[in-house]
Amino acid sequence: MSATGSAYRRGPFREGDRVQLTDPKGRLHTITLTPGKQFHTHRGHVKHDDLIGAPDGSTITNTAGTEYLALRPLLSDYVMSMPRGAAVVYPKDAGQIVTMADVFPGAVVVEAGVGSGALSMSLLRAVGESGAVHSFERRADFAEIAKANARAFFGEDHPAWTVTVGDLVESLPSAVEPGSVDRVVLDMLAPWECLEVVAEALAPGGVLICYVATATQLSKVAEAMRDFGTFTEPEAWESLVRGWHLEGLAVRPQHRMHGHTGFLITTRRLAPGITPPMRKRRPGKGYAAQEGDESTAPAEVPPGADDAEWTSEALGERVASEKKMRKLARGVVPPTPR
Ligand SMILES: C[S@@+](CC[C@H](N)C(=O)[O-])C[C@H]1O[C@@H](n2cnc3c(N)ncnc32)[C@H](O)[C@@H]1O
Repeated sequence: MSATGSAYRRGPFREGDRVQLTDPKGRLHTITLTPGKQFHTHRGHVKHDDLIGAPDGSTITNTAGTEYLALRPLLSDYVMSMPRGAAVVYPKDAGQIVTMADVFPGAVVVEAGVGSGALSMSLLRAVGESGAVHSFERRADFAEIAKANARAFFGEDHPAWTVTVGDLVESLPSAVEPGSVDRVVLDMLAPWECLEVVAEALAPGGVLICYVATATQLSKVAEAMRDFGTFTEPEAWESLVRGWHLEGLAVRPQHRMHGHTGFLITTRRLAPGITPPMRKRRPGKGYAAQEGDESTAPAEVPPGADDAEWTSEALGERVASEKKMRKLARGVVPPTPR
């Protein structure tokens, strides 16, 4: 069984395993088991040799009598504690990406940028050894950190992973056959610059998912997807995860949470030569009021046309009609003269 398979994640602790020690206050310490080595805190130490051969989920007591719980870290634990050159995609977003982009066993996935490799590891887990993750990273130093992180987690170089140092736009066309990629995942500052090469690489029906940190990037990539013309209408969302405090009768949301990580936006590649159907939707009330039309009949809105100006209507705000404004004005009681 390969090291990336289940054998590596099961059974007693072995030399080279990463082990997460939790102290009585809930503090985490991650160690890599090395014969003859010791894990020291300001109070006492634990011998690595006492953990090698012990079952996953054991407890161990240090020389000062402090008891630690010893477990192999989950992927979600690992990515939050591993060395990082760039900000990582948090586990809550990696879960959304794998599920909503439908990353399946055996899939061919393109990813850029690699950063610290956190998302790459979730993608590799999802495609398995029969799939392929082609990752691209501009910075050689980040790519090295990511490869080291993944190697430490999987125990070897994952056989489904190739990492190319270079810009996605320049490197992708020579790395994959046109139309051969099932999924593309972009986590970078300017994903809109990559749409042409992504459209060329994706198979018809393939999914593009982008993770962006700001609303301005979200807007720009959404409009670029629409303008490009060979993608379906994009869908965007964010996820908020709130942990809960569980102690006796004090069962309530935790006081602190990650208020913002990033936005996700997906679209799908249409078949060659197909353009997306014109969007039909009910006009917002403000839009209808400006047009002098109170009806709810669907209006045709060409992609990208409704953001040409920063008007209230374009921003989806409700605007009172002139008729309503006149009525409101008539109802205003004038101040009583003194
Ligand atoms: C936020 S980091 C990615 C983090 C990564 N998803 C993770 O979970 O660890 C963004 C990375 O994209 C890289 N990048 C930006 N534009 C790129 C491009 N056009 N081609 C390749 N890499 C790019 C940057 O160098 C940076 O390392």
